[in-house]
Amino acid sequence: EERQPFYGPHQAGITTPQQAAMMLVAFDVLAGDKNDLVRLFKLLTERIAFLTTGGTAPLVTNPRLPPLDSGILGERIWPDNLTITVSVGEALFDDRYGLTALKPAKLQTMTRFPNDALDAESCHGDLLLQICANTNDTVIHALRDIIKHTPDLLAVRWRREGFIPDHAARSKGRETPINLLGFKDGTANPDTANRALMDSILWVTQDQQEPAWAVGGSYQAVRIIQFRVEFWDRTPLGEQQTIFGREKLSGAPLGMKHEHDEPDYAQDPHGKIIPLDAHIRLANPRTPETQSSLMLRRGYSYSAGITSAGQLDMGLLFVCYQHDLEKGFLAVQQRLNGEALEEYIKPTGGGYFFVLPGVINNQHYLAQSLL
Ligand code: HEM
Repeated sequence: EERQPFYGPHQAGITTPQQAAMMLVAFDVLAGDKNDLVRLFKLLTERIAFLTTGGTAPLVTNPRLPPLDSGILGERIWPDNLTITVSVGEALFDDRYGLTALKPAKLQTMTRFPNDALDAESCHGDLLLQICANTNDTVIHALRDIIKHTPDLLAVRWRREGFIPDHAARSKGRETPINLLGFKDGTANPDTANRALMDSILWVTQDQQEPAWAVGGSYQAVRIIQFRVEFWDRTPLGEQQTIFGREKLSGAPLGMKHEHDEPDYAQDPHGKIIPLDAHIRLANPRTPETQSSLMLRRGYSYSAGITSAGQLDMGLLFVCYQHDLEKGFLAVQQRLNGEALEEYIKPTGGGYFFVLPGVINNQHYLAQSLL
């Protein structure tokens, strides 16, 4: 029985090894005032604490009333490695709840990059849940439970389901998941077991120019990125590899042998081996000046029917975490603008969010320090 602890200084679902199934659900908050907002976060805390612990589903009650639980998992709710990570968008800090002065310093609404084709119906939100578990049933059950408990407080705005290969999920982070372009995705991620490193790149800390309540939180950038998979599958292997700068099968940087070998750009200043516009080289040039743009990526594949043009609608739910949105995601995406990969991808949605600090124990609730 796999269980991720809910209580702690940081929320679960970020440094947690990637589970097989994930869902992103963005909401508009309907709370009428600050008291209602407190009620919402207390309710979310209570539901997440229960769902991630598991227990008996309250199915049989009064036949005249709806059952308390959807029943889709049967009588017994297993934790199933469930994590539900709660983050908030800039919109929550407008004048509705008097929180404007407490907005995290770098939180902003996503605007379009040159290669984007953003669909307004899959962008932004007051609140985002990233729900991950071993199985999709558990994810769906959790979502239905939360929606059932918050009808007057939350309205779904957009929603996406993602997955990673099952054997990669079962390896608990030892094996890198392969994305739908057929490349290992996550190889060069920073080591989440290194606490000092996580404190310097991932979590907001006291020495940053941030409101005190935000310490222990993290900035989350979400991008829904559609792939032109039919076109990609007709692209020569050599070109696929130079686009990323890595070998397709092994995941090694071009010119090297093993997946985790480090590229040495000083030895290749003109990009003869790893082109200057290769994805990994632009994303992380490995120079002292670009150290500050390190981030933790935790992306999932998606596959959802066909596009209006009759092509497979598949791609990546790109999610990354960092202690500073501008130095992390925004700086990296600016470097990636114009990359060779752009021909094959189309970002269509997403948004920027701030992950709330963790809940220390059952005497506390999510967003308590903010409210
Ligand atoms: C590395 C795929 C979008 C940032 C990689 C790698 C792959 C990949 C295959 C190499 C293996 C690895 O280290 O994980 C993709 C695909 C994308 C995408 C298919 C979407 C179409 C993005 C975006 C960002 C980003 C939007 C951030 C703005 C990075 C970073 C690395 C990386 C920082 C590590 C580079 C290094 O340290 O060597 N990506 N990526 N990627 N990607 Fe992406």
